[in-house]
Amino acid sequence: MEMKYISVKVRSAFRTCMQIFEALADGLYDTFKVIKYTSGWWKGYELERIEPKLHAAAHVLEKGMSLPDVRLGYGASGLRSLYGLMNAYVKSGFPPNRLAYQNAISVLHAYVAYHKEREHDVNEVKKRLTQYELSCDQSLEAGTVGFPLEEYRKLATGNFEQLAQSRFSIRAYGPEPVRREDIYKAMEIARKTPSACNRQSWRVYWVRSKKKKEEILKLHNGHRGFGDTIESFLVITADIKMIFGTAERNQVFVDGGLYSMSLLYALHYVGLGACPMNWCVRYRKDKAFHRMLDIPDSEAVVMLIAVGSLPSEVIAAKSERKAVDDILKVVE
Ligand SMILES: Cc1cc2nc3c(=O)[nH]c(=O)nc-3n(C[C@H](O)[C@H](O)[C@H](O)COP(=O)(O)O)c2cc1C
Repeated sequence: MEMKYISVKVRSAFRTCMQIFEALADGLYDTFKVIKYTSGWWKGYELERIEPKLHAAAHVLEKGMSLPDVRLGYGASGLRSLYGLMNAYVKSGFPPNRLAYQNAISVLHAYVAYHKEREHDVNEVKKRLTQYELSCDQSLEAGTVGFPLEEYRKLATGNFEQLAQSRFSIRAYGPEPVRREDIYKAMEIARKTPSACNRQSWRVYWVRSKKKKEEILKLHNGHRGFGDTIESFLVITADIKMIFGTAERNQVFVDGGLYSMSLLYALHYVGLGACPMNWCVRYRKDKAFHRMLDIPDSEAVVMLIAVGSLPSEVIAAKSERKAVDDILKVVE
């Protein structure tokens, strides 16, 4: 009996040592990739690094036009960094017809048109635009899209293509509170999400308390211009206890990400406005967040989703997408 007990102890100590070794090796493998491949100004401007920066900088300006209570002339520092990136792009000799660059120009045009409509002078941007004018692709039209509520609801409950094409990140909400039955219905639909071995590691925390929402806003960095108007947050987590060993270390984010996408579609379907929100934080904030919402340490936070009712006129940033040919590589 005692021998058997000792043997179990020895075997589990051995397994633990093996797991530590595997976790360190896999962790280092990931860490080196992060260090080697993530972007930073000191790594220079290869095309693959500058394009996402252009998309992100243009997106900040574009989404500004979809926010409630926009401050006219907003985004001075965003504009500066966009010009800097566009200049670096041109100087590096990258093709002017690529989406990232064309989209940036188009967003600047939309910014000017938006301000013209509101009779606010943005001469400096206009002047800058003349510099880029010649290479502008006229078929792109950045800015915002608007739908009367009825039309938006009809699209959301149409066929899948209509649902997918009409889902936008909503950052301006209506006055109605979010109904419990709508959240339940959306979660009923999202239950059908696939997951590795059907383990369904996801969890959802529906944060409605005003105090907790304020605390979330203090930790979060992507809510400028609409944070105060968010009715509630859905926090999507996935439980690391449900994965088997370090080879599956990313599975919580894959399964949790798939679930989040299902939930976003479902929220759109049930008639709620939703905006996915990053949880890209270093460990201290992550720990504080876990403590604040009483999320078990074993659960990884995948993302947050801001939810609110829809306003009578739904406005959203267009967020132009890459063409299929820019994404697809056929391997034959
Ligand atoms: C993981 C993730 C994190 C995001 N984080 C934020 C955020 O912090 N703030 C925000 O306003 N939008 C955020 N977004 C929304 C994106 O900006 C948006 O999905 C993208 O521009 C495409 O637009 P669409 O959702 O309207 O189609 C996030 C989206 C994803 C998928």
